[in-house]
Amino acid sequence: MINALKKFILKDLVLEIKDIRSLELLKNIHSEYLPWTGASIHPTALLYMLNDITIHQRKHVVECGSGISTIYIASLIRNLKKDVTFQTIDHNEHWLSIMRDHLEEHDLLDHVDLIHAPLKYCQHCKDDTYEWYDSSILDERILDKPIDMLFVDGPPAKKRSCDLSRYPALSYFHSKLDEEYIVLLDDSCRKGELKTAKLWKDEFGLSFKQEILKGDVLIAKNGGPYTVL
Ligand SMILES: C[S@@+](CC[C@H](N)C(=O)[O-])C[C@H]1O[C@@H](n2cnc3c(N)ncnc32)[C@H](O)[C@@H]1O
Repeated sequence: MINALKKFILKDLVLEIKDIRSLELLKNIHSEYLPWTGASIHPTALLYMLNDITIHQRKHVVECGSGISTIYIASLIRNLKKDVTFQTIDHNEHWLSIMRDHLEEHDLLDHVDLIHAPLKYCQHCKDDTYEWYDSSILDERILDKPIDMLFVDGPPAKKRSCDLSRYPALSYFHSKLDEEYIVLLDDSCRKGELKTAKLWKDEFGLSFKQEILKGDVLIAKNGGPYTVL
């Protein structure tokens, strides 16, 4: 028990140190102050994603749940000057308006497509107690172009009552993935996300690895042979 606790604390400490180093590197992409909170992705996981987009030349990135990650990904895409499509989905219209203002202020709106999709029950939900993004809106807005990076960090899934609310993401996007892809699910320390990854493995055959030291994410990928972190 004590050893398990020591191991847990050590991992937490190592990730904290990696996050500090990652934040330093991320300043090269977007140097303005940004409000990192408990809702934000770990800087280390964000660095992993930005490295992966760059090294594996991703072409279509889809994000569920906007925030700091959206700003960095859009900034990277602007810097890369390559043809990368980035679409982000959020259920909260007010949150998206805050995002839009910030993106506009930094000339980033041309590099990300903001999709507002309110939550409602849909066929992809685990049962009728859950809600996901209105899929009729996604049917219209998600581009008909294979997705080679899917980042699942929404809708909110912290409370037990909505712990499997991210499950529909793969049910909806699985058939739209490119042959070479990476799927990242944030918050790998939570029971709901671990269960979601297990369900995705059983139902869609994607094998997720819990990557605590890469920023507390679960990652499944096909192809993309290079080391990114
Ligand atoms: C886990 S957050 C997404 C975070 C985002 N991917 C990032 O790395 O910053 C999931 C949802 O919570 C909302 N959200 C984002 N940042 C928030 C904050 N600081 N406080 C409360 N809600 C937030 C947004 O509606 C978002 O879709």
